[in-house]
Amino acid sequence: MQRLKGKVALITGAGSGIGRATALRLAEEGASLALCDLNISQLSDCAKVLPGDTESLICQFDVSDSDACTKAVEDSVARFGRLDTLCNIAGVALCEHFTRISDEDWQRVLNINLTGVFYMCRAAMNALVKNQGSIINMASSAGRTGQAYNSAYCATKAGVIMLTKSLAIEFAADNVRVNAICPGMVDTPLTQNFVFPENADPLLLSRLSPLLDGAQPGEIASLVAYLASSEARFITGAELPIDGGQTAG
Ligand SMILES: NC(=O)c1ccc[n+]([C@@H]2O[C@H](COP(=O)([O-])OP(=O)(O)OC[C@H]3O[C@@H](n4cnc5c(N)ncnc54)[C@H](O)[C@@H]3O)[C@@H](O)[C@H]2O)c1
Repeated sequence: MQRLKGKVALITGAGSGIGRATALRLAEEGASLALCDLNISQLSDCAKVLPGDTESLICQFDVSDSDACTKAVEDSVARFGRLDTLCNIAGVALCEHFTRISDEDWQRVLNINLTGVFYMCRAAMNALVKNQGSIINMASSAGRTGQAYNSAYCATKAGVIMLTKSLAIEFAADNVRVNAICPGMVDTPLTQNFVFPENADPLLLSRLSPLLDGAQPGEIASLVAYLASSEARFITGAELPIDGGQTAG
């Protein structure tokens, strides 16, 4: 399918996991890509695996840096002449007993997972309004249900969901669609390197288990591609679970 031919997407977190799978999928669908991440070597690796005819731009920056977010959007528009889709996928985890979370760790997770999404949406909005584009924010099942030892992360992802819904309403008249995807467990470096805190209560941890096996990053990327396409024309302000039933009730 080439649903995104002639379109331009900017993807944060494109160096790994869900962001990398999204880059690959959107490129297969015909999009030109601004690949954004903090990690330059992972970005270069990602650019190398894209289909040969994909036009791409590499932007290395930290999404918690407001000026850098603005510059990345400006550079993308300068390079491709337009922006149709913003995928906010960069994110970090923090698993810790609540009373042991330091001020620095709380602020870092908030800055990357929530404030970074705000910076990117604000920087890209005018360009998206021009093309009646869309935003896809990678939230989490952790933004829909409380999780032990995950309070900072849960708070940021709940914030991403409400930011998504608010923008969907404010920009509906401009035909800019804004949606949040809420994955459960996905097999990526983020979860592969997950360490639960010492003395974590196994009963509380068991509540994190999905009903099905975890998802592969490409399965999340499929949903991103659908939301970015005109097939999803009537979907905005949605928080879409893709979590194997984890948050079904
Ligand atoms: N893996 C899961 O189970 C899962 C579940 C739900 C939601 N998510 C969300 O999906 C997104 C992607 O997660 P993933 O599992 O692919 O993780 P990942 O660790 O594989 O990839 C995250 C990418 O974000 C980049 N990044 C981190 N901090 C950054 C910063 N400050 N500026 C720019 N780039 C930065 C990293 O370099 C990395 O390439 C995250 O927002 C995560 O919260 C993941």
